[in-house]
Amino acid sequence: MSETEPVLPRLAVALATEEPGARPPEHVAIIMDGNGRWAGQRRLPRVAGHRAGAQAVRRCIKAAIEHRVRWLTLYAFSSENWRRPPDEVTDLTALLRHYLRSEIAELHREGVRVRVIGEHSRFGPEIRAELEAAERLTVGNSRLTLVIALSYGARAEILNAARQIAAAVQAGRLTPDSLDEAGFARFLSTDGIPDPDLVIRTSGECRLSNFLLWQSAYAELVFLDVLWPDFDGAHFADALSLFHRRERRFGARPG
Ligand code: IPE
Ligand code: IPE
Ligand code: MG
Repeated sequence: MSETEPVLPRLAVALATEEPGARPPEHVAIIMDGNGRWAGQRRLPRVAGHRAGAQAVRRCIKAAIEHRVRWLTLYAFSSENWRRPPDEVTDLTALLRHYLRSEIAELHREGVRVRVIGEHSRFGPEIRAELEAAERLTVGNSRLTLVIALSYGARAEILNAARQIAAAVQAGRLTPDSLDEAGFARFLSTDGIPDPDLVIRTSGECRLSNFLLWQSAYAELVFLDVLWPDFDGAHFADALSLFHRRERRFGARPG
């Protein structure tokens, strides 16, 4: 049972045997976790961890482009992260604004299209305007689509879809029997985005924390022991190697 083998020996095997030409996953989604612990280990304030985390985002996007990944979703702020102390939310908001202002032009130059999911309007009009401008500027790019999940929660997303569907049925625009999985998915914020093939979480925590619950039904999950601010291209390559060693069956019999 390969699933029960410890990760490290598997990783060593994967690194030794990965085919250089292996087809990359189309969509990689990442739960960027561990900024607070990284700062704590250095006796720094949590905001220093978030700042270092923003550098890791740059490295990660670069790695995704190098590995020819077409879709990269980054979980930057969950709908539950509003429960954090106001000071930390303020720091994260300021950092997000700074990141958008300093990075969007470069992302555009690199051919990255930006798309945002989640209830990001909760961050206020200024950030909403920055995000809309980023989406507008980069809409024609096709090298990599960077999906930023901001104030995102999968349960809220699914609930919102159910509400819209109920309203459509009530208005006579939809019949319950005509709704299938693809039709349901069109009501999600990820409409038009392929399901993630690989979901990575850093920091050693092994949970999804309300991330892409519908979309990750058949994603391969990789939990890495690195704290997000330390994440670099080698970790990205490690996760891809693990992905390539997995056999994806989608419920069918292996062929
Ligand atoms: C991830 O790091 C960043 C966000 C959730 C915004 P954390 O802030 O969760 O760091 P830990 O988990 O406390 O170490
Ligand atoms: C998940 O991390 C959310 C993001 C990475 C944006 P959290 O640190 O918020 O998750 P929990 O609280 O450990 O489940
Ligand atoms: Mg965390």
